[in-house]
Order: sequence, then C-alpha cells, then structure tokens
Amino acid sequence: MKWNVPLFDLDYNEQEENAVLEVLRSKWLTMGEVTQRFEEAFARMLGVKHAIAVSNGTVALHLACLGAGIKRGDEVIVPALTFVATAACVRYVGATPVFADITSPTDLTISPASIEALITEHTRAILVMHYAGYPCDMAAIQQIAQKYQLKIIEDAAHAPGAALNQINLGAWGETAAFSFFSNKNLATGEGGMVVTNSDSAAERIRRARSHGMTSLTWDRHRGQALSYDVLELGYNYRPNEITSALGLVQLSKLEKNNQSRRDLTAYYHYTLSQLLPEIELPFKQHRGLSSCHILPILLPPWADRTIFMNMMKSLAIQTSIHYPIIPDFHAYRTKRLSRGTGNLPNLRAIAPREVTLPLYATLHPTQIDSVLRAVQTSLKIIQHKTPES
Ligand SMILES: Cc1ncc(COP(=O)(O)O)c(C=O)c1O
Repeated sequence: MKWNVPLFDLDYNEQEENAVLEVLRSKWLTMGEVTQRFEEAFARMLGVKHAIAVSNGTVALHLACLGAGIKRGDEVIVPALTFVATAACVRYVGATPVFADITSPTDLTISPASIEALITEHTRAILVMHYAGYPCDMAAIQQIAQKYQLKIIEDAAHAPGAALNQINLGAWGETAAFSFFSNKNLATGEGGMVVTNSDSAAERIRRARSHGMTSLTWDRHRGQALSYDVLELGYNYRPNEITSALGLVQLSKLEKNNQSRRDLTAYYHYTLSQLLPEIELPFKQHRGLSSCHILPILLPPWADRTIFMNMMKSLAIQTSIHYPIIPDFHAYRTKRLSRGTGNLPNLRAIAPREVTLPLYATLHPTQIDSVLRAVQTSLKIIQHKTPES
C-alpha cells in the first residue's frame, strides 16, 4: 500500500549508514564495545546508574520484572490500555497481571484510584506505562506504592526523553524498560534497554541477559576470562553491535526529534480543536514533558471506528489503534491468567473511540493539513450515513 501519509517514518541518514558500516568493518558483531558505549550514553541521558541493552522491548520488560524480584504467585497491577507485552512480561515470571482502568478521556494513563482498589495481599508491584510518552500520575502512584510497600516498574517504551518534575521517565521505578522497535522515538529496528538505580537488580539483569553466565564471549575475546559458570536460569537477550551503533546515532538526535514531535502535536491539537471540536483530544493538557510518541484522538461516539479507518485508508492516510483491549484477547480471558478484567468502565467507554493519526519527527505540517482534510471528509461521509447522529 502506498500511503500519502504513513503512520510513522524514520529519521535515518548517512550518520546511521556510516555507523553500521563501521561495525561491519570492525568484524565484531555481537554485544561488545559499541553496546557498552550505547549503554553508558543512555544511562547518562536518563540520569540512572545502570542501563542494560537487550534485543527488544519485550525482553527488557521481562528482565525489568525479574530485576524487581517479581515471582510466581505475585500479582502485578498493569494498565488495561497498553501493548500486550506490558501484561505478558508479568506472566513470563509466573506472576498474574491485574488490569487497572484508565483515568479519563483526557488522560489515558493508568488510574491511581483503580490501582488502589485492586490491591490484595499478593500484590507486589505496579507496572505503569507512560501512554504516548505522557507521564502517568507518578506522585499519586508513588504514594500508593509507599502505603502498600509495592515496587514500581515502568514500561517506558513510548517515553525516552520524557520527564516529570525534572526526573526522566524510566528513572522513577525500581526498574524500567524501553523499546527501540522501528516505530519508536529512538528506533533501531529491534532493540531495548532495561534501566535501574539498584546495583543488585542490575547484576541480576545483566546475568539473566546472557544465560546466567559469569563471563561473556566479549570478556573471553579480550582475554579477561577462560571459562564461565552458570549461576541461574538465563536467556539469550543480548543486543548486537549494529543495533547499538544505530542506537547511539538515534540517541544523539532524540532531543531534537522529540521537540519536533511536540511542535507537530501542538499544531495537530490547535488545528483539530478549531476545525473539528467534536473530536476529543487526550493529553491536550497534561503533566510533565512528553516525548509525544503517538497522536491519539477520540472519535465522536456516533462515528464507527472501522468505517472511519477504512475511509482514511481510501484517502491513503494510515491510522492505527492504541490499543485493542488486552482483557478481551483470548489469551487473557481465562480468570486464572489475569485479574481485574471486569470493572473497567473508563476503558470500555473510551478505548473503542481511539484512533491514532500519523506522527513522526520528519512529518511536515502540510502533511498534517492533508491528514486533517481526510479526517474532516471521513467524518462528514460517516455522519451522512448515520441519520440518528
Ligand atoms: C508500550 C509498549 N510496551 C512494550 C513494547 C514491546 O517492545 P518491542 O516491540 O521492542 O518488543 C512496545 C512496542 O512495541 C510498546 O509499545
């Protein structure tokens, strides 16, 4: 499909090309010196002690749960409106995800009131997800965590470079996970990072990333070890030097590109509220500094989302849904595998109206004008087809 405006696009140029060539010419492809530099630069940017690069955001979440000490029999409260990996990672460590509601149509992040209502004697942690790069209500969530002695884990996949009260997102929790999937603000194709200020969590995460081994191929290559022991069940979640090299370049562009996303989001919000006041705009007002990862809108309740998205498609504008409701997935319907699936009134009312419009750092305002003309046309046609609206 040839889109007039795609949902996302990369800011890639000769910098990324040269970085990859340099790795290829070095003939060291797996986790090594470039990965170490990427980890150090990421930790510095975020203001955390440890950053541990991994092969994608999903395994970063798995290790974030492991590092926070989540285990079989525990319950972890997660948002019901997120990517499935936020809930899956809880199951990877044998714990149960408990789904909390979202806050409101203007704030699609996890509701602190809903979190508190779901706490039991089995609850060990709250796993927040900073939806679209907008900070969750961390003050309220921290208060709850302190009151019930729970850990906070962050899914910061949408939020590199976002902050609240001068603290970067990803630096609030015991552990946090980032994704560098192709559509993310910092994109390397596949890739991820686990961050923490805890030395013991970092040690556990580093070990689990590479089979629980006490030394790595890289250490042996440098003559620092001859053999190894395996201290616990581990995984191969290692990144490679090519994605780390891409990550270093993308990290150097992050601040500029996040600012571009903020400016474009402001333009979308201003123009949409002038042209189409019947569309609700989540996060038009929000706390903290956002990384503006995606541009969610809420269609008027009378507008059929599937028809709308098909109309946009026929006008060559790509849209998406963030997200289908996790508790409705077959793999999450069984009571034994998750909890809190029944009482999600905000989610049920709001999520079916959500559509995501194109947003990326190199998007031009004239392309936004094309998107908005398509939104106007699509809604007009739907309205004519819906006599009761
Ligand atoms: C909120 C959220 N969590 C986790 C992930 C998983 O990351 P990855 O695709 O890198 O495994 C993603 C992205 O795809 C995401 O959007």
